[in-house]
Order: sequence, then C-alpha cells, then structure tokens
Amino acid sequence: MPEHVRPKPGEWDGEARPLYLAPMSGVTDLPYRLLAKECGADVTITEFTNSTALTREAAASWRRMETHGSEVPFIPQIFGGDVGDMATAAEMLAGSADIIDLNFGCPAPKVTNICAGAALMGEPDRLVEMVHTIVKRVDTPITAKMRLGTGGQANNALSICQRLEDVGAVRLCIHGRTLRQRYTGVADWSSIAEAVKAVDVPVVANGDVIDAASAGACLSQTHAAGLMVGRGAIGRPGVFGDIKVGLGWMEQEELPWVKATEDWHHLEETAQAFAQRRWCWDRYIGLSEATIGIQSRWMQRHAIAFTKGLPNAKKARLAMHDEDTDKGMANAISAFLAEGIASE
Ligand SMILES: Cc1cc2nc3c(=O)[nH]c(=O)nc-3n(C[C@H](O)[C@H](O)[C@H](O)COP(=O)(O)O)c2cc1C
Repeated sequence: MPEHVRPKPGEWDGEARPLYLAPMSGVTDLPYRLLAKECGADVTITEFTNSTALTREAAASWRRMETHGSEVPFIPQIFGGDVGDMATAAEMLAGSADIIDLNFGCPAPKVTNICAGAALMGEPDRLVEMVHTIVKRVDTPITAKMRLGTGGQANNALSICQRLEDVGAVRLCIHGRTLRQRYTGVADWSSIAEAVKAVDVPVVANGDVIDAASAGACLSQTHAAGLMVGRGAIGRPGVFGDIKVGLGWMEQEELPWVKATEDWHHLEETAQAFAQRRWCWDRYIGLSEATIGIQSRWMQRHAIAFTKGLPNAKKARLAMHDEDTDKGMANAISAFLAEGIASE
C-alpha cells in the first residue's frame, strides 16, 4: 500500500474512519483546506483543475494547485477529456503531489461538453484507458472520484471500480448520485455499499453526509473506508469535529473552538454556533494571511457561507459592504460573530 493510503477496512464497527473534505470548486482554497484539517478533516483535495490548462502552464490553473507544508497528503485533482493532456498534467504534478485524484464526477456542462468529468462514465473504456495510461506514466498513487453513472444507462460505478482496481487505482470515491441527477434527490448509499464489497481497494462514500447522525448512518450502510463531506462543510468547516465528537471519536474538549471559548458549556446552542464560526472565521483569515494572502473573491464567498443561517446574517453582510479593505471586511464579520456569542 502506498504511503497515505490505508488498506480497505472490514465492516464498520463504530471505530474512527478518515473524514475527507470534498474537492469543491470555488470553495476549497488552500487556507480553507488547512482550516478544515484543524477542524478535524483528515484528508483534503484541491478543487478540480483543467489538465489541458495545466499543460499550457496557465498561471491561474497552477495557482489552484498551491499547497503548504502542513497539507499532508497533498492531493491535487485534475479533469479533462484528453488522455495525453491528463497524463502530461499528472507528470507535471508528480513531483509535488502525494496522490493525484482524477475527476469523473463533475456534471457541469463546461466539463461534460469536452467529455470529461462525469460524462466519461458514459464511455467506460475510455475512462479506464485514461486511468491506466496515467498509472503507467507516473509513480505517484492515483485515485479517482466518480458518480454512480450517467443516469442515461444502467449505473456502472461498480464495474468501473473493479476495472480501475485492475489497472492500479489505489483508492476510489463514489458520490451516490448520477450525472443526470446533478445535486437533486437523495444520495444512494446502497449502491456505494455494493461497490465497497466488490473491490479490495478502499472506497470512500460521498453524498448527503452533513452531521454525526448521517455520517453514522452512511458508515453503517456502506462500511466505506471513509466519508467525504461537501456541501455540509461549506461555511461550516467545524462539521468534521462535530462528526468526530458525535460518533465518539474525539472529546468535545479537544475541539479548538471549545478550547478557545470561555464558559463554552454555559452557552446556549445558538451562541455556541456563533462561537464555533467565529473561531473558524478568524482562523481562516489567519491562515489566508499566512499563505496566499486574503483574496477578496474567496473571502467574500466564505463570509456569506459562514454567516448563512445565523440570526441577523443580513446585518453582517451590510456591515461588510461598509468597509473598503479586505481586512476591514474580515474584521466586520469577526465582530458580527463575536456579538452573536455575547447577545444570545
Ligand atoms: C460548489 C461545489 C463545487 C464542487 N466542485 C467539485 C470539484 O472541483 N471536484 C469534484 O470532484 N467534485 C466537486 N463537487 C462535488 C463534491 O465534491 C461532492 O461530490 C458533492 O457535493 C456531493 O457531496 P455532498 O452531498 O456532501 O455535497 C462540487 C460540489 C459543489 C457543491
């Protein structure tokens, strides 16, 4: 087994299994990934990047592949419809990546139109050939993330998993929806369970895990080697710690926001939500400053997500728009979250 890939575990018996922050375009920037790790995520993956753009040395695409010494393992994710470009991009990344993840799950038309992402599940021979070529060209371990199928024909994730195992993929992740479903409907964990059983490489389950209850239910049903959390972690990186505490994998006192908040146990539930998000927000800003700098576009998106669902969230956004500088905006969000702890 390569370093950073644990062998397939047996049936889930309540023990800790790795939690993955899902790759999410426009969400999982470097400081956010580092934050998720501090909040309890075990593995992070970059947002997907176009392999053809990487081979052309496009600066914006390479910026998405930035990492930091503390992001171990470093797993860049690439997509593309051209086998040669995918293999060349993998070679270019091989020096810095611990693992390279291949995207066969994206439903966005700009991706599927070039027969990349989830569209490749409709051409399984091409998909398998692509993975095989890359495995032969680089020594770096290769993993793949896919959906159940395209939805236009019978689901084929199980047979693709078996074929990818045969050509040397070391870990697989399945989002329990088809391409046609995009993000609608309910993730089908029973189909993931069948794929978990069918292969000897570890399979990570993805789709609709949002808290400890859904995490426990997904592991009980799938016996997957790990769980990947996407939308449940947008604006809520603390979800990883919450899952671990809820499933008895760690003590609440070990959570960084609990350690940092005086009288945590005397706070009402809403005040605790504010306190968790405030710690996470301040840390996101600190990690941004320590790595890629505060970047307006990213910060503003995260600010909206971090305040979503909290009482008076609109006030926070208005306060942010009164500021002229990025740091001023970051401070306005922090002050709003601090106020929420005190006033609840
Ligand atoms: C905003 C957003 C961006 C995404 N970008 C990517 C991506 O870059 N690569 C990828 O493999 N999946 C991407 N996904 C899919 C997620 O990784 C995940 O498979 C999906 O959201 C299902 O998990 P969930 O139910 O926990 O959200 C994205 C999802 C969202 C919501």
